Amino acid sequence: MAKIITKYVCQSCGYVSPRWVGKCPNCGEWNTFVEEAPAPLKLSRKSPGAASRVEPVSLEHIDKDEIQRAHTGITEFDRVLGGGLVGGSLLLIGGDPGIGKSTLMMQVALRMNKQVVLYITGEESLRQIKLRADRLHAKGADHVLLFAETNLDLILDVIERGSPDLVVVDSIQTMYRPGLESAPGSVSQVRESSALLLRLAKTRNIPIFLVGHVTKEGMIAGPKVIEHMVDTVLQFEGEAHHTYRILRALKNRFGSTNEIGVFQMHEEGLREVQNPSELFLSERRYGASGSTVVASIEGTRPILIEVQALVTPTSYGVPQRNTTGFDIRRLSLLLAVLEKRVGLHLGAQDVFVNIAGGVKIDEPAVDLGIAASITSSLRDVPVDSASVAVGEIGLGGEIRTIGNIDKRVQEAAKLGFKRIVVPANNLKGLKTSGDIELVGVDHVEKAMQELLA
Ligand code: TYD
Ligand code: MG
Repeated sequence: MAKIITKYVCQSCGYVSPRWVGKCPNCGEWNTFVEEAPAPLKLSRKSPGAASRVEPVSLEHIDKDEIQRAHTGITEFDRVLGGGLVGGSLLLIGGDPGIGKSTLMMQVALRMNKQVVLYITGEESLRQIKLRADRLHAKGADHVLLFAETNLDLILDVIERGSPDLVVVDSIQTMYRPGLESAPGSVSQVRESSALLLRLAKTRNIPIFLVGHVTKEGMIAGPKVIEHMVDTVLQFEGEAHHTYRILRALKNRFGSTNEIGVFQMHEEGLREVQNPSELFLSERRYGASGSTVVASIEGTRPILIEVQALVTPTSYGVPQRNTTGFDIRRLSLLLAVLEKRVGLHLGAQDVFVNIAGGVKIDEPAVDLGIAASITSSLRDVPVDSASVAVGEIGLGGEIRTIGNIDKRVQEAAKLGFKRIVVPANNLKGLKTSGDIELVGVDHVEKAMQELLA
């Protein structure tokens, strides 16, 4: 009898070990190893692409405009995809349970009413899907075909026979290959299922969406191991207590990864937010200290966001530094600059920084806004509420030039701000647009004088 060799696979990163270990030597996670029986050498199914042999093509002969994008009819969604859905692409959409992934996918399916959409559900019954579609006011949606199944062999069969224009697999963690011993959702199953769907997407030129759940650590569990396989990784996120949702491209072979799409969850599904700046500023308290409006570039468009800081005396022990939506190391650097170049005493203060609205910003152009909020909170003097601040801060306290200044100024003017404080070097060649006053600053101390009332 053949000896059965079992292996242990890390469910976080896919590392394989011959024996069980508590901590993964590859990714450092604890208790992630699960025993998996090896795949039988011969998996019965022949690969879908094997029949249609193709020859290598010279670079010259590849048609450039072969990339055709289908518009989903949801502008925010198309933007994150890089301008529309590319034929034959495999996309992973991740997010916490209950955030609205299935809702978004159903809305996309309903909008694409010129095409046949196959919606495969492994989590909900057909009735549940129907109830959701009713909530979304789906009428005459006979282009959406539903299939409640988790057996991947049957699913591949249905896709091949039906040749739909778009496939949604909700979720990849519920799918399984009967030939594999391990449970659905395990690394081997997820990897195998995705590989087969990938091949099908490429050979049949059908875009396929894979819905994936995120673990409590914020990683796309299981699907993490397929991130390299798929063309696009989208992350759907939002705060549990807020109605807005942000769709972000973490990886995109067909577009930029900085793009975000903003939605709001309503009774009748997700609604696009055409003007995110208004939303992110809607809860701002005028005249409160520690709050500054910055103009950040997300992808190709400017968004005005409120950055908040709270500076309070440390009651005991080591002063705390805490951030939400902003890099904590960047905060330490800004605090050091403020100490040395502006003369603030922050050594015995706790400092908390929060980017309002659950947004994450990682561009240096918001430095000036963060510095202004910290100074404002420490001195308990509000930042001028009609001003926007943009600029990168250097170690010498100098305000450095930033990109896309025109877009930022325009957005601030559009939302009715009266003044924008910008790096002095950015003033060159910058046209005053509308009735917004441009104030150029070259040093952080000067900037604080301009911003704080
Ligand atoms: P769902 O799409 O099922 O989330 P996921 O697939 O990511 O797990 O959405 C779940 C939440 O959205 C649920 O709490 C109800 C809410 N919701 C609305 O508020 N309005 C709606 O129209 C729909 C369909 C859902
Ligand atoms: Mg769901």
